[in-house]
Parts: sequence; C-alpha cells; structure tokens
Amino acid sequence: MRTLTTIGQLDQHAGQTVWIGCWLGGKRSSGKIQFLQLRDGTGFVQGVVVKSEVPEAAWTAAQQLTQESSLYVKGEVRAEPRSPSGYELTVQEIEIIQITQDYPITPKEHGVDFLMDRRHLWLRSAKQRAIMVIRAQIIRSIQQFFDERSFTLVDPPVLTPSSCEGTTNLFHTKYFDEDAYLTQSGQLYMEAAAMALGKVYSFGPTFRAEKSKTRRHLIEFWMIEPEMAFVDHEENLRVQEQFISYVVQSVLANCRRELETVGRDVSKLEAIQAPFPRITYDEAIKLLHDGGFDIPWGEDFGAPHETAIAAAFDKPVFITHYPTSIKAFYMKPDPNRPEVVLCADMIAPEGYGEIIGGSQRIDDPQLLAERFAEHELSTEAYQWYLDLRQYGSVPHSGFGLGLERTVAWICGLEHVRETIAFPRTLYRLYP
Ligand code: 4AD
Ligand code: MG
Repeated sequence: MRTLTTIGQLDQHAGQTVWIGCWLGGKRSSGKIQFLQLRDGTGFVQGVVVKSEVPEAAWTAAQQLTQESSLYVKGEVRAEPRSPSGYELTVQEIEIIQITQDYPITPKEHGVDFLMDRRHLWLRSAKQRAIMVIRAQIIRSIQQFFDERSFTLVDPPVLTPSSCEGTTNLFHTKYFDEDAYLTQSGQLYMEAAAMALGKVYSFGPTFRAEKSKTRRHLIEFWMIEPEMAFVDHEENLRVQEQFISYVVQSVLANCRRELETVGRDVSKLEAIQAPFPRITYDEAIKLLHDGGFDIPWGEDFGAPHETAIAAAFDKPVFITHYPTSIKAFYMKPDPNRPEVVLCADMIAPEGYGEIIGGSQRIDDPQLLAERFAEHELSTEAYQWYLDLRQYGSVPHSGFGLGLERTVAWICGLEHVRETIAFPRTLYRLYP
C-alpha cells in the first residue's frame, strides 16, 4: 500500500503532493474543471480536476465517479481560505477502488425512518459524523475529569442476578439454568467498589425495557456512574456541577467546527459554568403551580414539568429533596425531614430533560433493612449489598449521567436516537 495522508492532516502538508484514500460525497463540473467533494472520515476537502492539467485517465476517472464511490487521489495541497478546511487538493491522479451504483441516500430530504433503516450509511453524512466526533470528545473529557481527580475506573457487570432501579423495566435472559437481567445501572456494584477504592467511576452500557417512545428514551444507553466514599449530598452536587461545566467547556474548546456543522448555538453552551442553580422539589412544585400546572405534592415530574422548570434557568438546574416515596430504595432520607431524600436530579436547559440522577446513599444497616422490607426486595439476592453496611459502613454518595441525553443537549438535537451510532429504541433493533 502507498503511504496515505488524511484530510484532517492536510494542514501539515501545504505545498506538498500527497495521496489520500476517500469517498466521493458529490461533484460539480464546469466543463473543463470537475470539483470533487471528498471525505475520508477525518474531514472534507474539495479536489479540483483541471482537464488541461491532468492525464486523460484522471479526467475520465473523475467523470465516472458517482456518489459514495471509493478512490485514491493524488494531489497537491493548496491553501484555500474560502474552503472550510482551509485547503484544496489540485488533483494529479485518481485510482478508483469501487464505483458505487444507486447509493440510497441522495442529497434530497429523506424521512427519519428511511434514514434509520439505513443508519449504517447515514452515519457517513457530515452532520452524523460531527455528532459522533462530539460524542467521542464528551467521553474523552469525562474520563479526563475523573482521572485528573484520582477516581479509579471500575467496570460493573452487565449480566446481573437482580435489579437496581426497580423491577418493571428489566431485560430478562437466561444464565444457563438461572435467571439473569441486563444491568439497569452499575450503582450497587460501584458502592462496593467505593468501599474498596474510595472514589470510583464506571462507564458502560445499561438497559431499560421501557415502553416509552419519547425523544429522551433509549432501550440501551451509556451511563457514567461515579461513587464516592465519605462524600455527602452537598459535595455530590459540587462534583456534578464542576463535572458538567468541564465537559461542556472541553467540547467548546475542541469541537468548534463540529458544533457549527450540527448548527449549535454555542453562546448557550458558553454560559455553562459552575455553580448551577438549585431548587428543592417543594420549590419546583410551587414554580409549576405558578405556571398553571396542576400537579399534587408527591407526584413525579414528567417531561413537560421538567421543561417548564428548566425554562426558568439558563444553566442546568438541580432539583433536590424529592419525596422519599417516589425515589429509589437506597436514597438517604433527610435527617430533618425523612419524607424527602438527599437526592438531586440535574435538568439540562432548553428542554433536554434530566441528564443526571444522584443521591447520598443510606449507610445505616437498620434503615436499609427497613427499606428492603417496604420494597419487598430479597435480602438473599442482595446479601452482598447489605454486607457493605455491616463491614465499615460510611457516608457515601454518587450519581449517574446519561451519555446520550448529554450528547443531545450539547449538540442541540431534537431526539436522542442520533446521539449513538446504532440506537436501540422501542421499535428498532435493526441495523
Ligand atoms: O436517574 P437514573 O435512573 O439513575 C440511576 O440509574 C442511578 N442508579 C444512578 C446512580 O446514582 N449511580 O438514570 C441516570 C440517568 C438519567 O438521569 C438519564 O440521563 C439517563 O440515566 N437515563 C436514560 N437515558 C436514555 N434512555 C433512557 N431510557 C434512560 N434512563 C435513564
Ligand atoms: Mg432519574
């Protein structure tokens, strides 16, 4: 194979002649010049083929090229201030790898179902590529944030014998002769890991068989779950606001071009700096009542409620101290007011909904045992979890960030289905 340069590295080769491997996005012709829109995954560049300056073979090869044909191109890298990449390629030779026939995704408008059926091809579009690049930067910055603060990455299991977030939306499977479930959350295992390593975080896929067909729900999504020993509710919130500010600022610093490609209003993202506003569940209920909503105390918020609350702020907002009755069994009650728990949901601005759920955990063995009885949880299945409160129990807190909702918010996307390469949604397991 010849040595290839990538489009993303053309700035290091100005004035030189290079080979690139690429696909044809589209082309224009003005009779004696053909303009090839080339992409190789790392970027986009225009190849200019001038009939009077190239061998006959290069000219006819350019004429044969169809959308998504694959090829090698040899050309001279020329600075071109009007091009988005800053460069153009003056084509000298073309070697066709494959001529594509009837590429199904044409430059005209297609419906979402049509595109989702061809997700394996749709990923090649400039916008979908930009989303994947931003997602990768978000993941990189998440890992940097926790690694820089001496958290240890720990991987909880995907196949589990019991549930973490309630039993209603579990994916069931067989584990030889036993029943098993795909994990909904690694949290309980991360609590064990925090007792061994202090500050830990996990990053992996989680599964919820939720029969909800909304723009915020996926069946398979990725979650980041930090868990911290000797950290209380207050400090948990401070870590979260610093974390989210860090991630947003890192995307702004590294993905300007991609944010432009997805059409994001970056001024909204620039405002995302800690600290974030906090309101209690009680205050949120009052805000909703003032806004004309008819929701009784004790009921959980739905998407319209979250959107209305978020509209009052231009940063993510923490809603704290939810009623104990609507939250998970492991959350620690407020000692001054046991009918609410030391928890917080972080609601993203602009209607993107809850991106983080977190809490201080119950550390008292007695109280945890009571919760197990109330929630009819099997003490046998969770004996290992109960053990954690017997052998050196300490105050601890943690949270879970939903990656896809975070990507949707940062990219300004209408629906989470475009935030992951191959989304699993209520009615889609293909491709
Ligand atoms: O609020 P959740 O259910 O919290 C937990 O699972 C805790 N055990 C986390 C912890 O404390 N370690 O889920 C956390 C986040 C939500 O805020 C949301 O961003 C995302 O996960 N999420 C989903 N994202 C896409 N599709 C779904 N079906 C989601 N369900 C939750
Ligand atoms: Mg939640």
